[in-house]
Amino acid sequence: MAENSRIAGFRNMTVAQRRSAVTEATGFDGEVFSQLDSSAFEPTDAANLSENVLGVFSLPLGVATNFTVNGTDVLVPMATEEASVIAAASNAARIARPKGGFVTSSTEPIMQAQIQLINVGDPHAARSRILERKSEIIDLANAQDPTLVELGGGVADLEVRLVDARTTTYVLVHLLVDVRDAMGANAVNTMAEAVSGTVATIADGDALLRILTNKADRRIARARAVFDRELLGGAEVVDNIIHAYELAAADPYRAATHNKGIMNGISAVVLATGNDTRAVEAGAHSHAVIDGRYTSLSVFEKTAEGDLVGTLDMPMPVGLVGGATKVHPAARAALEIAEVSTATDLAEIIVAAGLAQNLAALRVLATEGVQRGHMSLHAKNLAAAAGATPEETESIVATLIEEKAFRFDRVKSLLAEIRSGGSR
Ligand code: MEV
Repeated sequence: MAENSRIAGFRNMTVAQRRSAVTEATGFDGEVFSQLDSSAFEPTDAANLSENVLGVFSLPLGVATNFTVNGTDVLVPMATEEASVIAAASNAARIARPKGGFVTSSTEPIMQAQIQLINVGDPHAARSRILERKSEIIDLANAQDPTLVELGGGVADLEVRLVDARTTTYVLVHLLVDVRDAMGANAVNTMAEAVSGTVATIADGDALLRILTNKADRRIARARAVFDRELLGGAEVVDNIIHAYELAAADPYRAATHNKGIMNGISAVVLATGNDTRAVEAGAHSHAVIDGRYTSLSVFEKTAEGDLVGTLDMPMPVGLVGGATKVHPAARAALEIAEVSTATDLAEIIVAAGLAQNLAALRVLATEGVQRGHMSLHAKNLAAAAGATPEETESIVATLIEEKAFRFDRVKSLLAEIRSGGSR
């Protein structure tokens, strides 16, 4: 594990310096970083993952610092094109540190497949007939994946739901499968297809859809953290963050943005580790609806000591095997950096990152607002686009912020001024 995820001055280092600092913090040999070079993922390799491939699409990959999860320091790999996200997660993790960092837990890694049965004349009786032969169906499903069963996974249960649709009642057979360290889509889909004929015969109907559900509500990861009142900025900031949360809990318009802030952290780690961002996002959306109303995925409260405590529980269908996790060199490197040994460990780190990201956004919103930080990054981008060196950029950004003018023509005139030996 990372001996210390708190690396002083990390943000201001060069890429090479950061690689050395991470090597020092984790004891990695430098090899892992070569997998993050753009040359490590050739278009010919990429063509094994997708179709009609012309090339590869790169994104920044960084690590969030300061994270402690269940008492262990961890560097959290994140791939994102959005500025401020990784810095914000690191900052929130710093604020959580004095009170012990993030505490996480999870359910077993249970994914579900649905088999839709149509043309069933007696749905209630069919349900009973299927449940009566549950163990036979489970055995047939398990026979599809002896390796998973050997690893301690396999079908954990079978349920039957009746869903009243517009014209008929569908019988839905759910296979609840412990997928261990896989994301699990392939395993559960194979099982659903394999048993669908048998269940259709038992129900005296026809099987139509046989596919996993992305409402992965039996595969939940949870994170909790106490954020220090003083590091947050005082008692008023704590109260205002709780107001921000309460609005998200009450108003779907705010909840969507609040949850987007959570997903900034979640999707970045999911993507960095080669996992399926859309599966995790679909699970999050479905989980954010409670009693038919879309709401906040997280909860914020005040502790007896006046600190802020945040909790986030959500489906986290991620794996360490299969798909891009094993094939994409950067994903392999990210998993090495995170030093996770099970999919559940990874799921918990991801949810911790989501909670950190959420807190960081709420803190900025409840204090200075987001624009200050965004505009200074915008100014940096403008200066870079004008071809400014890092020293020139620093001076240009300072002037733009002072003048509150973020125009490209102004950047060009400032750059010209500097280069002609002007006072800036
Ligand atoms: C921007 O990417 C995310 C935020 O809008 C999240 C939020 O409003 O809580 C800042």
